[in-house]
Amino acid sequence: MESLKGKHIVLGITGGIAAYKSAILLRLLIKRGAEVQVVMTPAAKEFITPVTLSALSGKPVVSEFFTANTGEWHSHVDLGLWADLMVVAPATASTLGKMANGIADNMLVTTYLSAKEHVMVAPAMDLDMYASPSTRRNLATLASDGVEIIEAAEGELASHLVGKGRMAEPEEIVERVERFFLRRNDMSGMKVAITVGPTYEKIDPVRFVGNYSSGKMGFALAEECASRGAEVTAVAGPVSYYPSNPSIKIVKVESAREMNDEALKAFGSADVGIFAAAVADYRPEEYCDHKIKREGSEEMTLRLVKNPDIALNVANNKKNGQTLVGFALETNDAVVNAEKKLEKKNLDMIVLNSLEDKGAGFRTDTNKVTLISRNGDEKRFPLKSKREVACDIIDEIMELRKNNS
Ligand code: CTP
Repeated sequence: MESLKGKHIVLGITGGIAAYKSAILLRLLIKRGAEVQVVMTPAAKEFITPVTLSALSGKPVVSEFFTANTGEWHSHVDLGLWADLMVVAPATASTLGKMANGIADNMLVTTYLSAKEHVMVAPAMDLDMYASPSTRRNLATLASDGVEIIEAAEGELASHLVGKGRMAEPEEIVERVERFFLRRNDMSGMKVAITVGPTYEKIDPVRFVGNYSSGKMGFALAEECASRGAEVTAVAGPVSYYPSNPSIKIVKVESAREMNDEALKAFGSADVGIFAAAVADYRPEEYCDHKIKREGSEEMTLRLVKNPDIALNVANNKKNGQTLVGFALETNDAVVNAEKKLEKKNLDMIVLNSLEDKGAGFRTDTNKVTLISRNGDEKRFPLKSKREVACDIIDEIMELRKNNS
């Protein structure tokens, strides 16, 4: 049900009878988990009160450039940057005209002009106004500027005339919003390769050097990509659970060297590569082919030698257009260390989880991450289930790819 969880939506409301339906639209968006900021034109307040809308959205409504009594400035630029989507519903003929021609005399139009992401408009007006050459021209201009038009429906209008001009129903608008987010982060046709789980480095036939990784984070990422239509290959170390999703091909490995060989094959053709495995950095220098006996020795020394750095090896063969993402598990100077790894391993983004955070890291169902991109962006997320974290990570990867394309 929470199909819009974490999405930032600016809901622009203009002065038309259909403005009352915006309250229903707002409620539906909030129910689906979106965070919504309402921006109203002064005329819209004649049709619906800001109190209703701020109560439903849980945020003060923005309408003026600044609050008269405090002088507090409302930044349309910040709002435009914050929004993942702007929906203007209802959009009157006058607002459509202003948007099409850049007439920025109110907060709604300035926010539109500052919006970095997608914009939708749901016009509502009398049938003759809707059919007028001026409105048609403005809608055509907006469409060619990339604005998505949610055409008005046929029906009885406020004037009691019957024709085309009714705002699309809130349910239909919500459906368009959901479809937009699905489309935006659709991964169909994409190939994703992920390293998952721990590696085991054999000492003798019954013992190994390993770590506590459960593979949960890696497989949550694999599931998330598969659910968005990607073809996924997971190169996985020994774990107790493997997903059975037919879109996830699992290549089982045990040691870091095996993982390295298989990853070099699988990542070669991938559009997105994610290094979620907890690779053992060292392995015993020698493997003893029989069980090492206790008798006769009071001490035992295990000499370890370095394992291949899989992320680095794959990144050295990085293809054009490929996005590579690593993880960093740190106990101290977390951000600085993560940034160093990002550089050293030639990654596009690194997912930092710190063992200082309760509920984050190994053997838990939750995680708390900070996403650090090569372009310097740093996004901190609260504690969430590993599947939700996977969703945030993939959203961010898709954004990076969009910005780099
Ligand atoms: N990684 C890898 N191969 C290795 C070691 C790490 O592919 N031999 C990947 C991990 O999957 C992760 C990233 O590199 O995505 C960082 O792993 P981490 O263990 O935090 O870093 P290390 O390079 O091993 O550095 P250190 O252990 O010294 O912090």
